[in-house]
Amino acid sequence: MLDGKKSLFSGMQATGTLHIGNYLGALKNWVELENEYETFYCVVDMHSITVRQDPAELRRKARSLLTLYIAAGLNPEKNCIYYQSHVSAHAELAWILNCFTYMGELNRMTQFKDKAAKNEGNINAGLFTYPVLMAADILLFQSDIVPVGDDQKQHIELTRDVAQRFNAIYGDVFTIPEPYIKKTGARIMSLQEPTKKMSKSDDNPNASVFLLDDTDTIIRKFKRAVTDSGNEIRYAEEKPGISNLIEIYSVATGKSIPEIEKEFDGKGYGEFKIAVGEAVAAMLKPVQDRYNELCNDKEYIDNVIKTNAEKASYYANKTLRKVQKKVGFPEKIR
Ligand code: TYM
Repeated sequence: MLDGKKSLFSGMQATGTLHIGNYLGALKNWVELENEYETFYCVVDMHSITVRQDPAELRRKARSLLTLYIAAGLNPEKNCIYYQSHVSAHAELAWILNCFTYMGELNRMTQFKDKAAKNEGNINAGLFTYPVLMAADILLFQSDIVPVGDDQKQHIELTRDVAQRFNAIYGDVFTIPEPYIKKTGARIMSLQEPTKKMSKSDDNPNASVFLLDDTDTIIRKFKRAVTDSGNEIRYAEEKPGISNLIEIYSVATGKSIPEIEKEFDGKGYGEFKIAVGEAVAAMLKPVQDRYNELCNDKEYIDNVIKTNAEKASYYANKTLRKVQKKVGFPEKIR
């Protein structure tokens, strides 16, 4: 709760290129929530440097991501859209929360284990305490809900544990957040290995459909998608490839899974794959058009970056001051 209104925080890393998993699992759902909540959508550039980045590329990607948030339909007058690195309270609260998080808890994080395995030469302390910075992001805004894909659930559970631990010592300081995860679209799988989630760090470009892929590329990727043996369009555990495509088609069109199974009853995989490709291309086209328009409006985006960071700082610092006081930091003399 923030100033008597329910609030919400979510964010995405400014690394890699946004794919339809990020869109269907998170971004698309964000747009539906702006009326009910005070919303904060962050480009989490501080999280990004847990893996080595090219500085110019990180800056470019961060701006592109922020622009995509708006292109996807988030109105920056209603939603606070900003860069994490512009609000120093994130780092300050993360430090304090580090002192309330146990090594054992962080050791259990599956994303840390995965990322450490992929970055053997650079298993830095930031990668390990990544979830604490994420907890700070969420708790700074007294978030009631955190809309994310399925892979972030464990991090939100840790956030809840840390917040409850803090509240048990100091009283009701933090709102305890709930993950907001939709049933369909929360775990979009790779088009090439449908038992693995679609991931920004996948080396195979055919495994993911990117938000800025053109129509031909999107359709080609779906045509090449790995599917299961058999020829029935049916949602089933033993058919991960087709089930993934059904799920994508369902979120892209708003049709239910039984409706889709009926629509494609007796039709082959080839026809279905083209239909999925076309539906996804049609869903992304308006986002891409708006993105291209916004990229030409430097002044507008610059203004969003400036004003929204000020708003985020205002709320974040309110919580930070409260926490600093609770833990016993001396008050500043003004
Ligand atoms: P990131 O950047 O990896 O992913 C951004 C969002 O996309 C979702 N997502 C998916 N959803 C469905 N299917 C997939 N294959 C898929 N891949 C990714 C993620 O669940 C996420 O919602 N640690 C976060 C960023 C973060 C954050 C936060 C999120 C930092 N602070 C505070 C929420 C609240 C991350 O790396 O997401």
